[in-house]
Amino acid sequence: MYDYQAPDNLLQGKIILVTGAGDGIGRAAALSYAAHGATVILLGRTEEKLNAVYDEIEAAGYPQAAIIPLNLETAGETDFDRLAAMLEEEFGRIDGILHNASLLGIRTPIESYDPIVWQQVMQVNVNSAFMLTQALLSLTNDSEDASIIFTSSGVGRKGKAFWGAYAVSKFATEGLMQVLADELEHNQNIRVNSINPGATRTNMRVNAYPAENPENNPTPEEIMPLYLYLMGRDSRTVTGQSMNAQ
Ligand SMILES: NC(=O)c1ccc[n+]([C@@H]2O[C@H](COP(=O)([O-])OP(=O)(O)OC[C@H]3O[C@@H](n4cnc5c(N)ncnc54)[C@H](OP(=O)(O)O)[C@@H]3O)[C@@H](O)[C@H]2O)c1
Repeated sequence: MYDYQAPDNLLQGKIILVTGAGDGIGRAAALSYAAHGATVILLGRTEEKLNAVYDEIEAAGYPQAAIIPLNLETAGETDFDRLAAMLEEEFGRIDGILHNASLLGIRTPIESYDPIVWQQVMQVNVNSAFMLTQALLSLTNDSEDASIIFTSSGVGRKGKAFWGAYAVSKFATEGLMQVLADELEHNQNIRVNSINPGATRTNMRVNAYPAENPENNPTPEEIMPLYLYLMGRDSRTVTGQSMNAQ
């Protein structure tokens, strides 16, 4: 596991948006960021799951969260602009974005890959992350210490048979991260990196490897050190890096 011990107040006063915050790694990250003092904006497509995370944050006495139900498969430029305007009015700035929501799609050879599924996966995993980033960049300019984290995968760094659109979307995610990090190279107040969580005990992992014993993989909570490190001030000088949570 990535070795980092976060101070309790690491994210105090920070405004952090997490996509796919209702389940799996996104849920654990939202709770962990809130536990370290952040006001977390929970974005996802299933409102009940977001409500449950909101309630957990409230019950624990962490800073009050905000909920944004949004389907990243169907959301367009206008939705992201509206979201940015709403966040500007409510919070005035954004200190962190964790792009975490993703679709696995299907596991099949390129030759038989359904083009509709291909487009859905690219829309959720890449295009929506691009549009969300574009809409929120001016809000991160108002932060003294902003961090944008993209979520990659092992198959986004080395292609693997039958991983189709998912693998290609993760290569594109790494590309988006690198291009943006390079464009912002001279801005000391913002950093852009990617995390490969590695095999983690979530629904997505179970769908990808149904024959595997889930107990053999770490829980989302166990991989949080890197998520905290890259979101907090200790990673201020780190940018353009592809990192591994395990
Ligand atoms: N788990 C692993 O072993 C592993 C390994 C490598 C990389 N990753 C990456 O880690 C990230 C988190 O994965 P996970 O394992 O936690 O997956 P997960 O349990 O399936 O969670 C994915 C989250 O994304 C949300 N989401 C999916 N489609 C969406 C859409 N159209 N609009 C809004 N939200 C949407 C889901 O919402 P719903 O709850 O409503 O479905 C869910 O909250 C992903 O980027 C994944 O590619 C995971």
